[in-house]
Amino acid sequence: MRIIWLLFFGMYGTQVVAQQPLGMKDLIDRNFQLAALQYKLLYSHTPADKMPRYFANDSLTTSNTSWWTSGFFPGSLWLIYEATADEGIKQMAEQRLQLQEPMQRYTGNHDIGFMIYCSFGTAYRITGNPKYKQVIDTAAVYQLERYRPVVKTIQSWNSSNRYTCPVIIDNMMNLEQLLWVSQQSGNSRFSEVAITHANTTLRNHYRPDHSSYHVVDYDLQSGAILQKVTHQGLSNESAWARGQAWGLYGYTVMYRFTKNKIYLQQADAIAKFMTEHPNLPEDGIPYWDFNAKPGADTYRDASAGAIMASALLELAQYSAAAKKYRAMAEKILRSLSSPRYLAAPNELGGFLLKHSVGSIPHNSEVDVPLTYADYYFLEAMKRYKEWVIQDK
Ligand code: GLY
Repeated sequence: MRIIWLLFFGMYGTQVVAQQPLGMKDLIDRNFQLAALQYKLLYSHTPADKMPRYFANDSLTTSNTSWWTSGFFPGSLWLIYEATADEGIKQMAEQRLQLQEPMQRYTGNHDIGFMIYCSFGTAYRITGNPKYKQVIDTAAVYQLERYRPVVKTIQSWNSSNRYTCPVIIDNMMNLEQLLWVSQQSGNSRFSEVAITHANTTLRNHYRPDHSSYHVVDYDLQSGAILQKVTHQGLSNESAWARGQAWGLYGYTVMYRFTKNKIYLQQADAIAKFMTEHPNLPEDGIPYWDFNAKPGADTYRDASAGAIMASALLELAQYSAAAKKYRAMAEKILRSLSSPRYLAAPNELGGFLLKHSVGSIPHNSEVDVPLTYADYYFLEAMKRYKEWVIQDK
């Protein structure tokens, strides 16, 4: 056997060496260089008063800053700047923060956490610029306007003919901003709301198998549950993949700030549901819904994979299952770094990742690059470099 291997290596040595997979550090460094190139291209295609949203049929769709994803483009630019020290990227990041700044007073829905913390929070962590902190502090005050004390949650979307007081699992992602502001200021008002919301969500959104409903709708007068349904998933009883990833990330963050073991147990339980699910494909990138029929024709959601990788890397900092989580995060990052998911230079109008899904029931953003997939991919790579490679 050894002789056969030596002969093979002797004949094809160069090719064999060339095909060795890159180590994670080299892979991540390569991906951040690619990201700098791609995001300059994306920036050049995006009108100065807009944010990129998705890319389909060779065409970029943008949004204004009140769309829930608006903070991810500036956030990604800051993450790329942090990894590459590219001054051109920094200027772009600063320009897009300026555009985003008025959103600190946005109260149209719950998404002010995504919009401000993923942009200004990331910028403040990297630069320490006190002006950025001021914006986050203001955003947290406005975020509380949607708190409903009777229901004990922050209302996600406004009342409509479909919902009364809808709360979606995604809202767990907006709590980091509140917890951070309390930690920085010593004012517990913000963290009290975050904790109350997280507890209500834990009680009402989660099923016995630790999968989550997408939407729980409440009566504003009594706080009673009116319905548990899906908005973007396959069915009311299914496990919409990105929703599971939002919950995993959200309860991990809850544990980071509170050190309450209930949140660690919850995050571990969600991680178990996702990582051990029989429908999770071998490459670690979930189908758009865990209950969708597995198969080559069923859409994946790269955004769910990226969020899951980033969350697992943080959860590994706290959990007894650290080794397993790091291995799964590495698998996901390697998959997302392969040509199946990652753009070639100058491809995808400058986005990084292919194959995300916004909302299949609305036939919206299906199998396209999305800004938040890129953002959490970049964040996960930064975390892997800092927490796994440095630890070795
Ligand atoms: N928060 C909306 C989504 O995840 O699609």
